[in-house]
Amino acid sequence: MSKDSNLFYKMVDWEKRLDREKNFFLNLVKNFKPSENNVLDLGCGIGHHLILLANWGYHGYGIDYSEESIDLAIKRMKEYNLEHLLNFSFGDMRYLQEIISDKKFDLIICLGNSFALFSQEERHNIIKQAIASLKPGGKIVIQVVNYLKNKEKSVWTINPKAFRDTNGLISFFVRILEWLDVDKEKVRMYVQRLKQQENNLEEFEQSQKTTEFFVVRDEDFRIFSEDNNLKFRFLGDFNYSSFDEEKSNDLIILIEKQEK
Ligand SMILES: C[S@@+](CC[C@H](N)C(=O)[O-])C[C@H]1O[C@@H](n2cnc3c(N)ncnc32)[C@H](O)[C@@H]1O
Repeated sequence: MSKDSNLFYKMVDWEKRLDREKNFFLNLVKNFKPSENNVLDLGCGIGHHLILLANWGYHGYGIDYSEESIDLAIKRMKEYNLEHLLNFSFGDMRYLQEIISDKKFDLIICLGNSFALFSQEERHNIIKQAIASLKPGGKIVIQVVNYLKNKEKSVWTINPKAFRDTNGLISFFVRILEWLDVDKEKVRMYVQRLKQQENNLEEFEQSQKTTEFFVVRDEDFRIFSEDNNLKFRFLGDFNYSSFDEEKSNDLIILIEKQEK
């Protein structure tokens, strides 16, 4: 992420989000014994999920392709006194095996739509490497946005978000999305930010960031269906609702590697 990587973290209401996701993760990890390599977070950002899991006693390793996010994750880990449980490093998840070599994990997570940044070929490669890095009985959780819910629309928005900076000034975000192709394989998201000016409170400076995402479909995972060692579930939210392409906001892929 760019210099403005903080932008993403400000668009998320973390208290609400982690509250919504907490029980799902608690349920997943409850049978794992805290050990040296419990959880691997791909695209960990500034470490929210690993800090949550470390607060329950689990070890975590986070990788992210933004040095700024990793620096901030390390700073936050120290603030929470979790150095004995967590590790963060800069790295590209497409080369996962080179980063983690032969380490094996109980749980591998890739959340917050990070997985939708990659083409189908790259996604398959990431999953293959993640499966190879799972302990028997281990699990993978991938969460992406279900863009197909909006397949009939030409353009749509995500609820705007406003907050005050530490200096009391208002920032305001609007996210606008559009399809990039008729086959609905890709979307482009424009984030418009309006920032109140200190010298004139009636004036807002505008800036923009654009990101393209690939559409991830449940059927993309059929390629792995011949592996009897793996069990796939497709969920629409963290309450275990079944995925519905027309209604679900998210697609959550839960992969379980059978015990030997
Ligand atoms: C939208 S954020 C999601 C952060 C966090 N996982 C969450 O759930 O909120 C996407 C993250 O993926 C990271 N990222 C992008 N490309 C990556 C890559 N090739 N390897 C590892 N991380 C990557 C970005 O730097 C960013 O921190």
